[in-house]
Amino acid sequence: MAAKIDAATGIIAARTGAKETLIAELAGCFAGTEASATLAANRGDEVAYFVHEMRPDASEPYGLVSGTSTLKPGKVGREFFMTRGHIHSRPDRPEIYFCLRGRGVMHLETLTGETSPLAMESGSLTYVPPFMIHRSINVGDEPLITLFCYPADAGQDYEIIVRAGGMRTLIVDDGAGGWIEVANPRYQPRSIDEQQRYLRG
Ligand SMILES: [Fe+2]
Repeated sequence: MAAKIDAATGIIAARTGAKETLIAELAGCFAGTEASATLAANRGDEVAYFVHEMRPDASEPYGLVSGTSTLKPGKVGREFFMTRGHIHSRPDRPEIYFCLRGRGVMHLETLTGETSPLAMESGSLTYVPPFMIHRSINVGDEPLITLFCYPADAGQDYEIIVRAGGMRTLIVDDGAGGWIEVANPRYQPRSIDEQQRYLRG
């Protein structure tokens, strides 16, 4: 299996799968509920990000999924456009991201709520360790395009972020062309029981 990636657009013409996420589907990710409702009402049917993937045959026991994620630039109040974010359904599966274009943050959070926002720019390689919640955020003014690779049996669990009211911190515009990490007022820490469920896989 081989394919050419268009690094300017994120398009993989010979992809085996694709998924689009609309701005309306992201509205609940933003802490600024009024601004996000306005955005969803005005631009809800626009694509916020799309994924093109190369997935191996399901019969491969140790297959790797690779592909691209292309996230539009934009803001809701001081918050930047972001992906929904997830932990892997098999939480011990890691992932790598290689940034092809744009400026972004790979926002990481442990089950206990420790965060590490990692800056990404063209050429950055980012490793997402096992048991880590992860989300991409576009802090620039052009598309953020990353190439990802993860074990094909990893799966995505989006509800871990929804249940907690988001990630523990928000990445917001610092007013000077950059970004800063601030506390998320809606965040509810995970119970020990919930953490243990994920650690058991
Ligand atoms: Fe992932």
